[in-house]
Amino acid sequence: MISSTTCINSFRLARHYATSTAVKYTAFGTPNQVLKVVQENVNDNVNGDEVLVDMLHAPINPVDFNLAQGTYAFQPQLPAIAGSEGVGKVVKVGSNVTGLKPNDFVIPVISSKVAGTWRTKAVFSEKQLFKAPADIPAEALATVSINPTTAYRLLNDFEKLKAGDVIIQNAANSMVGVSVIQIAKARGIKTINVVRNTGDIDDVVDHLKKLGGDIVVTEDYVRTQAFQRLVADLPRPKLALNAVGGSSATELARNVADNGTLVTYGGMSREPVTIPTSHLIFRNVNVRGFWLNNWFETHSAAERQAMFDDIFDLIRNKHLKVWVEKHKFSEFSSAFARSQESGKFRKVVLDLQL
Ligand SMILES: NC(=O)c1ccc[n+]([C@@H]2O[C@H](COP(=O)([O-])OP(=O)(O)OC[C@H]3O[C@@H](n4cnc5c(N)ncnc54)[C@H](OP(=O)(O)O)[C@@H]3O)[C@@H](O)[C@H]2O)c1
Repeated sequence: MISSTTCINSFRLARHYATSTAVKYTAFGTPNQVLKVVQENVNDNVNGDEVLVDMLHAPINPVDFNLAQGTYAFQPQLPAIAGSEGVGKVVKVGSNVTGLKPNDFVIPVISSKVAGTWRTKAVFSEKQLFKAPADIPAEALATVSINPTTAYRLLNDFEKLKAGDVIIQNAANSMVGVSVIQIAKARGIKTINVVRNTGDIDDVVDHLKKLGGDIVVTEDYVRTQAFQRLVADLPRPKLALNAVGGSSATELARNVADNGTLVTYGGMSREPVTIPTSHLIFRNVNVRGFWLNNWFETHSAAERQAMFDDIFDLIRNKHLKVWVEKHKFSEFSSAFARSQESGKFRKVVLDLQL
C-alpha cells in the first residue's frame, strides 16, 4: 500500500518536460562537423533557484568555434550545448528565486563554463542570470556581455586615457573593434584602426569611418612610409589593442608610444605575438593580456552591474550601436557558415524562436 506521504512526495518530484531545440557537441573537432542540431527535453517544472528561460537571440562568436574545437582555455564537459552569450525571457521561476519573475529579460553570465545559449529553452540557476533592462533592443542585449564589455574594459583598465589621446587596434571590424571605436569616440579618444584587406574592404572602411574611426587602414598599409606620414600629426598611441598576433601585433608594438601598453586579448591569426626586443628595452612598451572571464571571476556583482549600467547608457544615448545580422535558428548551418566569412562588420545572431 502506498502511504499518502509517498504520494505527495512523488507528486512534488514529478518532472514535466518541454522540448527544446539545441546545438550540441558530443566530441571536440571541426565545428561544422561536431555541432549538431538536436531536440531534447527540458524540465518545465522548476524548483529552488531554477529559472526556466525561453532563449530569444544568441550570437556566434569566435570563442564558440574554439570551444567546439576543444582549443579554448578550458574544455567544456561533454556533451555540451554551444553558445556563450545571448538573451532570453523568463518563463517560470522556482520557489527560492527572489530577483527574477516571468517576462524579465535575462542574460546568462557564466565565466567558468559554456553557457549553452544556442537552444530554444533552458533552465539556469538564478545566480547565472543577469537581469537585463526592457528598454534595450533584444539584439543588443544578446551581444553585450562578451564583446562590448571587453572593449569597455580594454579602454578602462590599462592606460588612463583622456580626450585627445590616441589608441591603435587591429581586427577593427570585429565586434570588439567596432565597440572600441564607438566607446572611444564617445570619450573623445582618437582611434587608428587596422583591418585585413578581405571581403568588401571599401564597405568596411567606410563603415568604420562613419562610426567615428579617425583613421582606418589595411594591414599592408600600416607597414608603409605613407602610413607614418598619415599619423605624423597625431600623438603616438598610448594603448594598442591586439586580437590578431603575428606580424600584425608587431606593427602595433612599433606604433605604440614609448612607455605605452600593448594588450593582447585575441589570437585570430593563431600566430605568436612577436615583439622586437628593442621596443621592450629602449622604449619600455608594456605587454599585457586580458581575459574577460578572469575579470568576471575577480570582480564583485556591484562592479559588474556598474559596467553593464554604463554600457546600457551608451546604447540608450546612441553612442554605442551593435551591428548584427539575424539568421533563423532553423537555418543554423547557413548562419554558422556566414559567421565564418571575412570582411564583415556585423555579428551573426541566431533568432532562436524562428
Ligand atoms: N580576451 C577576451 O576576454 C575576449 C573577449 C571577447 C573577444 N575576444 C576575442 O576578440 C577577438 C574578436 O572577437 P569578436 O567576436 O569581436 O570577432 P568577430 O566580430 O567575429 O570578428 C572576427 C575578427 O577577426 C578577424 N580575423 C578572422 N580570422 C583572422 C585571421 N586568420 N587573421 C587575422 N584576423 C582574422 C576578422 O577579420 P576579417 O573580417 O578580415 O576576417 C574580424 O576582424 C577574437 O579573437 C575573440 O576571441 C576575447
